[in-house]
Amino acid sequence: MDNELPRVSTFTVLKNIVKFVQNPIPIINGHFENLGSKSYRISMASMQDALITRDPELAQYILQKNHKNYIKSKIQTELLAEFAGKGLLTSNGAYWLKQRRLIQPGFHKKSLNGYIKIMSSMIENYTNELNSRIESGNTKINVFNEMSNLSIQIVARTLFTNDVDADKIKKIKDGVDILQAALVKNIRQPYLKWFRNVTGETKRNKALTKELYQLILNVIHERKNTKSANDDVLDMLLAARYEGTDEGMSDQQLLDEVLIIFVAGYETTANALTWTLYLLDKNRAELKKLRSECQQKHLSESLTLEDVMSLSYTKQVASEAMRIYPPAWIVDRLPIVEDEYNGVRISKDCVVNIFIYGIHHDPENWIDPEKFDPERFSKENKKNIRPYTYFPFGGGPRLCIGHQFAMMEIQLALYHLLTKFDFTCDAYVKADIAPSVTLRPKYAMMMDVVKLKEN
Ligand code: HEM
Repeated sequence: MDNELPRVSTFTVLKNIVKFVQNPIPIINGHFENLGSKSYRISMASMQDALITRDPELAQYILQKNHKNYIKSKIQTELLAEFAGKGLLTSNGAYWLKQRRLIQPGFHKKSLNGYIKIMSSMIENYTNELNSRIESGNTKINVFNEMSNLSIQIVARTLFTNDVDADKIKKIKDGVDILQAALVKNIRQPYLKWFRNVTGETKRNKALTKELYQLILNVIHERKNTKSANDDVLDMLLAARYEGTDEGMSDQQLLDEVLIIFVAGYETTANALTWTLYLLDKNRAELKKLRSECQQKHLSESLTLEDVMSLSYTKQVASEAMRIYPPAWIVDRLPIVEDEYNGVRISKDCVVNIFIYGIHHDPENWIDPEKFDPERFSKENKKNIRPYTYFPFGGGPRLCIGHQFAMMEIQLALYHLLTKFDFTCDAYVKADIAPSVTLRPKYAMMMDVVKLKEN
């Protein structure tokens, strides 16, 4: 039996194209409301047939229960790989599995405990620098820019320790930012590719990619030559050996995986931190509770992953912020062979888009979904969360490899930032979203920052 899904007409797609390019989330949501269905079909700008779903059961079926029948789409692999290389995030099938097995241990608890010191010292450097700025009367900050800078420093230093200076880190950040913007244009406005070729934009981006690759390759070569031990992610990648062999990754593979860690690991976390600080300013009772938890815990020099994870209310806050503002707001999959789920046909050429943002905001899954309520993630309430109604890090075998790394970073950053400072949003700041590769704030998130009295 084929329970045919409602379809968004080509006319509606074309009518909304400008608004879709600016912000696809309200358009995608609008179709759900108009069609009254948890899933619908649509022909996207790429003209490939697509199915968009906010059905948690279908999400679980595709990402976990029948994951073997699904790969990532061309957008997430070929298009993204054009600038980010063929790493873990952008590969499929046997190659992906081989790389995942190789890299996974680098994100296990033992390895994370090795990175925590670097992470902590980067955050402390940042708070010291912020302190100096405040002392010199400079109290206005753009939180997204600040969190992006902090997050790229953390990723860069956990990868490379001191092998990259501030100038190189800035080059990496600028390069990743520009190339991500180019990717979004290629996805949302593929019909303007000719224009980007004519204006030289494509050529400029290719040159930038080359520069970025070279910068990273130089760091890898230098590390190989000096053979210094740093206990960082690069050391882990260099030491990793394929199962049952004495073979490690080639320079090209190392470059691809390093680049992917930058692409996947920096802006996602920066968004999570930005939105958390915004929500906490708007919800002062919750901020007070979080601050009180952090002030009672004195994280020592020899802190471990467990110490950070014991900040349980801080974790609840970060989880709730990522429910409302999931940094990775949509994921996609393509069936290898035709599939069927609950009578819905999923043909081989149909890209399934799993709308994480929509699932996190669906009143069928969450009471009063727009309300910021960290209690949803308390020990007692967490048990009642249905599978795949909350999955900011994805699910199944392709679950974010950096999810614990990210949680450790977010909790540690909140601990340091909120025990030392208070952040207040400018009155005119609007919380509008600008979904790109990640869910960014649309407008500059300007805040006033002051030192807390007890410091
Ligand atoms: C709040 C922060 C983060 C969020 C919300 C997030 C979210 C996600 C999601 C949803 C996926 C799965 C995509 C899919 O199934 O199509 C993913 C994959 C991935 N993430 Fe993250 N991520 C975060 C931070 C990080 C960090 C810090 C790193 C590395 C240090 C990282 C590295 C990766 C990699 C390499 C993959 C691909 C894994 C694979 O396919 O095997 N992420 N992330």
